Parts: sequence; C-alpha cells; structure tokens
Amino acid sequence: MKPTVAPFPAARLRRTRQSASLRGLVRETALSVEDLIWPIFVRTGNGIEEPVPSMPGVLRRSVDKVVVAAREAADLGIPAICLFPYTGLEERTEDCAGAWDPDNHTNRAIRAIKAEVPEIAIMTDVALDTYNINGHDGFVVDGEIVNDPTVEALVKMALAQAEAGADIIGPSDMMDGRIGAIRAALEHAGHQNVMILSYAAKYASAFYGPFRDAVGASAALSGDKKTYQMDPANSDEALRLIERDLNEGADMVMVKPGLPYLDICRRIKDSFGAPTFAYQVSGEYAMIRAAQENGWIDGERVMMESLMAFKRAGCNGVLTYFAPDAARLLST
Ligand code: PBG
Repeated sequence: MKPTVAPFPAARLRRTRQSASLRGLVRETALSVEDLIWPIFVRTGNGIEEPVPSMPGVLRRSVDKVVVAAREAADLGIPAICLFPYTGLEERTEDCAGAWDPDNHTNRAIRAIKAEVPEIAIMTDVALDTYNINGHDGFVVDGEIVNDPTVEALVKMALAQAEAGADIIGPSDMMDGRIGAIRAALEHAGHQNVMILSYAAKYASAFYGPFRDAVGASAALSGDKKTYQMDPANSDEALRLIERDLNEGADMVMVKPGLPYLDICRRIKDSFGAPTFAYQVSGEYAMIRAAQENGWIDGERVMMESLMAFKRAGCNGVLTYFAPDAARLLST
C-alpha cells in the first residue's frame, strides 16, 4: 500500500514574510515618535545633571537643565514630557505643603519650559509621596493612609500645577474620588482645557523600586502601598477603576506598570476605546538596561520591541524613560 502524503497547505503564512517590503506591507502596528511621553526628574540647584544609580542613562536635572532636555525632546518630535520632583529628606514634611507650593521645583520647571519650549505638552504627577516625610501618596494618620483629606491636598497640588501652566494633570495616588474633585476644581478655576490623564489602573508593584530611589522616596517609605494601589492578581477591578475615572472626568487613562500588564491594556482599550496609555516603569527600564550593560541582550532591539508591544496591545502611547533614545532611532 502507498503511504498517504498529506497535501501541502494552501495557507502558507510564510509567504508574506519573504522580504522586508512584504513584511512592511502586512505590518499591523506602527510605533511613532508621537506615541512617546518622556518622564523627567527635576531637582533643586543650578547646572546640575546627576545620574540615578539604579537607572543607567537617567538623570536628575535642575530646572535650567530640564529646560534644555525639553528643548531636545521637542526637537526630536516627542509630544509630551512628564515631570517628577526629586526631594531630599530635608524637603519632606508631614503636612506635605511643598506639594502645592507655587514655587516648588516642578512648578518653576513648568513655567520655565512654557517660556522656552512652548510647543511641548507638560504632564505633571499628582501624589504626595515626593513631599511626604513617610513616602506615602497620601496623608498618614495613625498608620492609615486617609483618603478624603488627601484628596483635598491633591486638589491644591493640581491647581498649583495648572496655574503654572501644566497641560496634563497626572494623578498617580490611587485615592478614591480624586479625579472628580480635581476636575471640578479645574473647571471652577477657569482651567477647562487642562486635561487629566488618570493613573487609573495602578498596581502595587515591585517594579517601582528604582523610581523611588530617583525621587528620594526609598529612604522615606514606611510599609507598602497595598491599601491604595491595586492587587497584581486583579483584572476586572481595573475595568471598574477606568470606568469610574472616565465618568469622573478623566480625558485619558493609564495602566501601570506596562509590560507585565499588557492584558489589562488590551481589555481596557477594547472595553472603553478611550485614549489609553501604559507606563513602562523604572524597574522595566532598569532590567533592560542592566541586561544590555552585561551584553546579555541587544538593548536597542529589546527597547523597540517592548515599545511596539504597547501599541500592539492597544495603547495610544507609552510613558518611557527610553523616549529620547527611541525617538532618535525612529528618526533615522
Ligand atoms: C508615585 C509614583 C510612583 C511612580 C510614579 N508615581 C511610585 C510609587 O507608586 O511608589 C513609579 C514610576 C516608575 O517606577 O517609573 N506617586
């Protein structure tokens, strides 16, 4: 008896992979410089660019140097930057008053950038951790992170940033009700056009470690953030948070961290169709850089592949410390 030979498949999916041009023709997603938001650390002083040890290639910059960085970003075509203040222990207090000081270094940086680089959008961080003596995103009373008094403080912080000229307010604190409260206060104060990008699905993640070094919170932080940031095991809860924040007036929403949570990005995009961003956080950045520095991976290719993954998962854009490096590669 002759053996039966299986017929060759009619669907040969390799056909469209034969050449670079054919691969380009069928490519489903594209990464563009317009998808990038660059987080920048601001510190006091003048003429200072100081490396963050756990984030190779990332600097803390004094306001004058932040302006230079904003100019570079704009020239590269990066549409937005996001400012985070570095504060030493001596700048931190229990009442967190520095957070809504109109002259704190974030607000001074906003004014300076608006004067010199008006075309770039400025996003801010709204949370108390960078001014809090104990490193938490909210006030701590008898060991508890209290919600409603914190929201009042966050409103003051957001208003000071809007007054300074911020375009996008980024509440990263995970208190309940802060989006509605900030939105109402912005409207009332005549800042109808200031946007809110809510850190809506923010997980209690170990991937934030290097960031806490970068902003000076590691030494300050007591305990963990599990009573306000999300449990990494949850996904339905992320949808509920996004829906709530959109209803309270968020213009855009964010998932954070990024790569380990791409399933969340996809569910959110499919469910709401709202402008959706992911934050490729400090630990994700540090892992790629560390492997690159050891010669274990091709860092450039891993960087671009990881950024593309966010687009494939449905994100409109990504906050990433790689933004200038990626922008340079995208422009060549
Ligand atoms: C806190 C805040 C954090 C990050 C951004 N805003 C850290 C935290 O929640 O402890 C992390 C960003 C990163 O890791 O790159 N308001």
